[in-house]
Amino acid sequence: MYIHLKSSIGNMVFDTATVIWINVNLATMDNNIDRDYGALHHQAIGICDDRIIAICAMGQFVLPIGDVRIIDAKGRWLTPGLIDAHTHLVYAGNRAAEFEQRLQGVSYQQIAERGGGILSTVKATRAASLAELVRVSQPRLTALLNEGVSCVEIKSGYGLNIDDELKMLRAAKILTANNPVRVSTTLLAAHSIPPEYQHNPDQYIDLICQQLIPAAVEESLVDAVDVFCEQIAFSRAQCERVFAAAQKHGLAIKGHMEQLSNQQGSQLAASFNALSVDHLEWLDEAGVQAISASGTVATLLPAAYYFLRETKMPPIELLRQYQVPMAIASDLNPGSAPLASIRLAMQMACTLFRLTPRESLAGVTCNAAKALGLSEEIGQLKVGMQADMLLWDIESPAQLSYQFGMQELVQKVFAGSVSDVG
Ligand code: NIG
Ligand code: FE
Repeated sequence: MYIHLKSSIGNMVFDTATVIWINVNLATMDNNIDRDYGALHHQAIGICDDRIIAICAMGQFVLPIGDVRIIDAKGRWLTPGLIDAHTHLVYAGNRAAEFEQRLQGVSYQQIAERGGGILSTVKATRAASLAELVRVSQPRLTALLNEGVSCVEIKSGYGLNIDDELKMLRAAKILTANNPVRVSTTLLAAHSIPPEYQHNPDQYIDLICQQLIPAAVEESLVDAVDVFCEQIAFSRAQCERVFAAAQKHGLAIKGHMEQLSNQQGSQLAASFNALSVDHLEWLDEAGVQAISASGTVATLLPAAYYFLRETKMPPIELLRQYQVPMAIASDLNPGSAPLASIRLAMQMACTLFRLTPRESLAGVTCNAAKALGLSEEIGQLKVGMQADMLLWDIESPAQLSYQFGMQELVQKVFAGSVSDVG
């Protein structure tokens, strides 16, 4: 294995390390290591500045001479930093009143059809200033960071006009600058038909394609474009126009697909080589086949399934059969998933969708990185990757999906900067 090759050259590889963890178990999440979690026991791992530079078994490790910080992990587990690859964490207001309506039996779709739902968050988000939007979104981001999230995707989608969509993306950029986190930003202008275009949604699609995407690109505000392909949102033909415009501008493509019905949006996304399709409760075998062929990640959002009390599960067995990589994300948003917790999403992925704890951890590390097009940078403990790492006081990585609300996190490393927790 490559790790032993490196150590057989001698210990030179650790010579430039700035920090080294010794006596540590690694859940590398590296697929080339043919063990659950890509596990390597009793290792040393060294970083230099923001990169992982060396990994070797303790038996072959020799302490380098020089100015290096040594951390004795005492048999604890190190994992990659967690990645939440699907959130709507920038928004204003809340939908507690709609929650109460839903408890009385009104459905998510009925609320949307009555002008509530996403549109009620649009009203509150439009009314908020940029500074206010940043202020109210910060605690949601903080909650994720406290759990060990070091990379988060943030979508727009509650502005639904040029100024307010750009305002949301600017808020995401300010949050990035103010926090130890990597943020991937996604333009989700095609989230719901804005009140101004209720009778002419195609004109709104024109606005997205001809003005909004170019403006977001011009200001370097956006990495990807997303759509909501659904009866209560946009048709496949409309989503196709948005994808074509995104592709023309070199942006990555994602989609909220087959959440409430099967629109065959996944096939459309696959035809554009989408990074991910997300939700997927109504995905069928033809859709699974299509995303398998295009290398698209299936991002599962069990918190939305739970909160909307859905009963139709995503086709997990088919996704396994076709070897589609599965990511898991919080979907943090005020309507379908008001839960600022990737750890709870991991537990729900196992309890509700019957994923294994290994699949669950892969869903928030290596596969989540793939869903954001960042596989070469983050999501695995591997030489050359960014040093985003978490040290956990656990006996096995399965505990990360099994238990919830415990304090197992001991140390966080973001881009090589180490901070103790607790
Ligand atoms: O991922 N499905 C569409 N969008 C969000 C919900 C947004 C909302 O209700 O505010 C989702 O579930
Ligand atoms: Fe979502």
